[in-house]
Amino acid sequence: MSEPYDGAWSSPPQNLSLSDNEIHIWRANLDLPAVLISPFGQTLSTDEWQRAQRFHFERDRRRFIAGRSILRTILSRYLALAPSQIEFCYGPHGKPSLADTCSEQSLCFNLSHSADLALYAVTRDRQIGVDIEQMRRVEAEQLAQRFFSPREYAVINALPPERQQTAFFQLWTCKEAALKATGKGIAGLDQVEASLGVEKPTQLIRLNGDSLSLDSWSIQQLTPAPGYVASLAAEGHDLKVSYLSFLNRYE
Ligand SMILES: CC(C)(COP(=O)(O)OP(=O)(O)OC[C@H]1O[C@@H](n2cnc3c(N)ncnc32)[C@H](O)[C@@H]1OP(=O)(O)O)[C@@H](O)C(=O)NCCC(=O)NCCS
Repeated sequence: MSEPYDGAWSSPPQNLSLSDNEIHIWRANLDLPAVLISPFGQTLSTDEWQRAQRFHFERDRRRFIAGRSILRTILSRYLALAPSQIEFCYGPHGKPSLADTCSEQSLCFNLSHSADLALYAVTRDRQIGVDIEQMRRVEAEQLAQRFFSPREYAVINALPPERQQTAFFQLWTCKEAALKATGKGIAGLDQVEASLGVEKPTQLIRLNGDSLSLDSWSIQQLTPAPGYVASLAAEGHDLKVSYLSFLNRYE
């Protein structure tokens, strides 16, 4: 993993295999055609249905149903289970993982969604996190001062204003992807620090409050579609990432 990825997303091969140093990252459109919502939605568990019913807006409800059913469909391709048979359990801060009832305990995953686009990262035996944000106008310099470390803020602040927006989202997604990998989520925001790649690739330099050796974690930055920025964080180095498309609207 090195340079930011803005290349093609391929259709998955018929026989999907995932070796130990591999990561599959899937891109999916959450605005599924109406005809697919009902069959996809039938794969959800009771608690997922209950969550779906709590959304105020119909569009958010549909996107949640799509997000969870696509997650189940993707995972079922690696497991000897139907999408509806997959059971999840949740960490102390809400990170979903496969429950003990699933056949392949080594499979690790994380997902992120923003507007109509979702990313799903799948790997084996390593902590993994992904974060996607649809770019929008924000007060980048002020937000960086409030939420980033002094070193990170200095990087954003030194950029010309037209670069600050993208740089803010790159750094934000990088930090959030790392926090999602550990399962802490936003609660660990002050315990993670990254160097934003200008001439060198973006790197994690601190996580859980501890300094990191350069090869202990990998960061891959992505432009998954025009107007979106995303980051993938994974334990380890020399990892091979494949970019797969689940229903192909963005090509
Ligand atoms: C996880 C978190 C960073 C997500 O931020 P976000 O940008 O709004 O959302 P994203 O789209 O990137 O990610 C959401 C997905 O991440 C996963 N997720 C939820 N909590 C997670 C966590 N702690 N770590 C990693 N992944 C998590 C879920 O799959 C969720 O999607 P889904 O529920 O629709 O399937 C944020 O919600 C958070 O910090 N949550 C923790 C809150 C907490 O501490 N709760 C304690 C009581 S449960």
